[in-house]
Amino acid sequence: MGLLDGRVAIVTGAAGGVGRGITLALAKEGARVAVVDINREGAEETVALVAKEGGVAGAVACDIRDSAQVDAAVARVADEFGGVHILVNNAIAANINIPLDKLTDEDIALSLDTGPKASLYFMRACFPHLKGDGRVINLRSASEVQGIPGMAPYIAAKGAVAALTRAAAREWGKQGITVNCIAPLVYTPAANQHFGGLTEEQLQSFVLRGLSIPRFGEAEQDIGRTAVFLCGPDAAYITGCTLSVDGGGSFMS
Ligand SMILES: NC(=O)c1ccc[n+]([C@@H]2O[C@H](COP(=O)([O-])OP(=O)(O)OC[C@H]3O[C@@H](n4cnc5c(N)ncnc54)[C@H](O)[C@@H]3O)[C@@H](O)[C@H]2O)c1
Repeated sequence: MGLLDGRVAIVTGAAGGVGRGITLALAKEGARVAVVDINREGAEETVALVAKEGGVAGAVACDIRDSAQVDAAVARVADEFGGVHILVNNAIAANINIPLDKLTDEDIALSLDTGPKASLYFMRACFPHLKGDGRVINLRSASEVQGIPGMAPYIAAKGAVAALTRAAAREWGKQGITVNCIAPLVYTPAANQHFGGLTEEQLQSFVLRGLSIPRFGEAEQDIGRTAVFLCGPDAAYITGCTLSVDGGGSFMS
């Protein structure tokens, strides 16, 4: 018996990194998971990892910037898996290390389109399926309060995701849907890029020294299990919150 038996989840950006860890954790608790990503090969790899653990997942190739593709992906998942009960808006893309005054329109659009806009597309499309006892988790970032230079569109996108989470929590509480954020810290190629492409030694002194628990999080064990909690029965009265799963680095809430 898993905590999420009978539940169907959509996890965006699950071709690797944090999204893959969340997918594995949800699937190990019995959820059937749609692995949505623009990277089809990576999504298939995640599906294979789930299958190896005895779980059920399916890859859905989708460019989440396109609302028609999002609508089609959600309709397909609902049709093939028999509903959608959990939505994890994890995907985002960003061009970083670009000073604010040098940003192109494309740099700005990339993060805003893959972040808050895509999250809103998925939430809108999933709403009829989530009504009753649905769960939404949006991925937030401590960089939003730290204001790291060279990452303005990403930071703006994450701030908008946080605001969207609160708005949806208020609107959807009566519908039985909870909407929360996780702000993770996990060593992924994308995260290392955000830290400026540091060597392991530099990471130890620069990043880990700022944490209360001086290690990076594990995508499945730390972030994925937090997602399981937020999607399970024990979190039914929690909405509009951010759980910082970052070793006490940001104390963001
Ligand atoms: N890793 C960390 O320490 C950290 C810290 C703070 C916040 N986060 C947040 O956690 C989430 C995952 O982080 P990560 O480090 O695993 O990132 P990642 O870059 O490894 O994963 C992002 C995924 O999104 C997918 N994606 C990008 N554009 C897409 C598009 N147009 N359509 C569909 N899929 C698309 C990518 O293919 C990729 O698989 C992000 O929302 C990130 O902001 C991560």
